[in-house]
Amino acid sequence: MELSSERPMGTSLQNDKPIYLDYNATTPVDPQVFHAMEPYFKEFFGNPASAAHQWGWIAENAVTKARGQVAALIGAKPMEIFFTSGATEANNWAIFGLLSKIREENPTEPIHFITSNVEHSSIMKAMAAVEKMGVEVDFLPVNSFGLVEIETLRKAIKPHTKLMSFIWVNNEIGSINPMGEIAKIAKENKIYLHTDATQAAGKIPMNVTELGIDLMSFSGHKIYGPKGVGALYIRSKDPKVQINPLLHGGGQERGLRSGSLNVPGIVGMGMAAEICQKTMTEECHRLQGLRDLFWEKLQEKIPGVRLNGSPTERASNLLNITLPNYKTEALLPRLQKLGVSTGSACGTGATVVSHVLRAIGLSVDDVQCSLRLSLGRWSTEDEVLRAVAILKNSLQR
Ligand SMILES: Cc1ncc(COP(=O)(O)O)c(C=O)c1O
Repeated sequence: MELSSERPMGTSLQNDKPIYLDYNATTPVDPQVFHAMEPYFKEFFGNPASAAHQWGWIAENAVTKARGQVAALIGAKPMEIFFTSGATEANNWAIFGLLSKIREENPTEPIHFITSNVEHSSIMKAMAAVEKMGVEVDFLPVNSFGLVEIETLRKAIKPHTKLMSFIWVNNEIGSINPMGEIAKIAKENKIYLHTDATQAAGKIPMNVTELGIDLMSFSGHKIYGPKGVGALYIRSKDPKVQINPLLHGGGQERGLRSGSLNVPGIVGMGMAAEICQKTMTEECHRLQGLRDLFWEKLQEKIPGVRLNGSPTERASNLLNITLPNYKTEALLPRLQKLGVSTGSACGTGATVVSHVLRAIGLSVDDVQCSLRLSLGRWSTEDEVLRAVAILKNSLQR
């Protein structure tokens, strides 16, 4: 499959146009994805649950095709894919759904879950919520690269540990957890393994069946699909994983996730998955080249710049950097031409400092001097070079 020669609006190449460097926050919808979705807003608007007429059948067929495309991307069976509204819902469903099932079967049994302290907020907060419901939760510290240490994990396991949940590729620093080793430990100890693979699916090759992952969350809008759609993979064999629904109602998704399906979104996620599957190897290679050039030029132009996260086990599209002594929130007005993320953000009256950067050992000051630069399908060498120049100028003023 060829990548579309069409460039999404908003990622213009003109010299004076802003440069989007926030592909980890969201990706533009690939024009091929958009074209695939369009008919499902227009003539094929049916509800897949309408089994009595052709409008329903057409929508149902489209969802079936997308389920196959999404399953193929991660090495799963189509019946193991359950569509959700995104990775936030999938993460919450995995945790609360499993807890509800365990409690249903044995209401008095003590329950222990293990996660890490660099998870996305949808895991951190869901785990904090189950803790309030009486589950013992360990938030494991990570090493200075943001990776779960196998020895730390082994030591944390208790006889009543039921679930481990670890982010596969970190959304802020790009560190790639050793998921194969983690899965082996989970299997040896008969503990369910969930992974938040929102930044991993479509970016690194994976086969969840072979790896031994039990539950996996991912999202459409991080893989050049639309927002508002995602999926939870639920393993069907060796072991068959059973979780309770979070959403009750019409019994869609084989009774496990009620609510009329977002057909255009699902079609889009399916198409996005197919494109990623076919272009991933080449695209990773290209992005790695751009990322390395970016880092090389940054070091050349900005003395003292530091890289956060693992130098080796990391995503091909991302740099998280610290510009010592330059508060990045204060720099933002001078970085209007760049779409970047900062390590801290001013919320309602308070500064929210990245828990991930703190967890890998950065001081609050250094977190406030940090930037996440994430590249993607429409990033170019020219953009990288212009971005370095803009960053350098912003520091000089
Ligand atoms: C690692 C990770 N998990 C979960 C999410 C939430 O995904 P969604 O926006 O699909 O709910 C994100 C999005 O930023 C993410 O990066």
